[in-house]
Amino acid sequence: MNNIYPIFDKMLSRADKEKLLGQRGLMIWFTGLSGSGKSTLAIALERELQQRGLLCRILDGDNIRSGINNNLGFSPEDRVENIRRIAEVGKLFVDTGIITIAAFISPNNELREMAAHIIGADDFVEVYVSTPIEECERRDVKGLYAKARRGEIKEFTGVSAPFEAPQHPALSLDTSKFSLEESVNRLLHLILPKVSAP
Ligand code: PPS
Repeated sequence: MNNIYPIFDKMLSRADKEKLLGQRGLMIWFTGLSGSGKSTLAIALERELQQRGLLCRILDGDNIRSGINNNLGFSPEDRVENIRRIAEVGKLFVDTGIITIAAFISPNNELREMAAHIIGADDFVEVYVSTPIEECERRDVKGLYAKARRGEIKEFTGVSAPFEAPQHPALSLDTSKFSLEESVNRLLHLILPKVSAP
């Protein structure tokens, strides 16, 4: 196609990058309560994929809420903006052919649908980390549930703010029922066929 700016005709495509990497870009979107095991699963999955020669990028609270989203809190409006920015950043990684693993509470269908819409439904795999709140609260890794129960944290998901379970996740993983190894095996079974080079 003729273009008045000829350099654009030379721009590398997503397919060029995927060919270079020998993999397909994909967003694996973990949703679930605080303490459900999203980050643990993300880290273990990344390690397994890397061992198979596949390049990944984890996006989670540690690298997003402390950086690009450090001006956002947990009001409904801020959660929308949090997820919107994560989805836009995630799309850049996916379009570079990178397997992107997002681990955010993303507490309702509207937010997750927005993320899927931004990234593109074909590139979006929703995984529900369905560990029950009783178990998340029992773990209370960061002591946040206790603070939320004492009213020291407002709008805490599952305690004083809602969590809406996904209706049709590609996979549900209850980390109180499955071992980490079992969960990762289920993830690999789902994901490997989608990220393998054409
Ligand atoms: S959201 O709902 O998707 O915008 O949340 P997310 O970006 O995943 O951030 C969740 C982590 O922030 C900590 N935290 C809270 N979570 C929920 N509600 C409130 N009010 C809150 N305040 C702080 C909490 O540690 C979450 O960490 P994870 O990793 O999910 O356990």
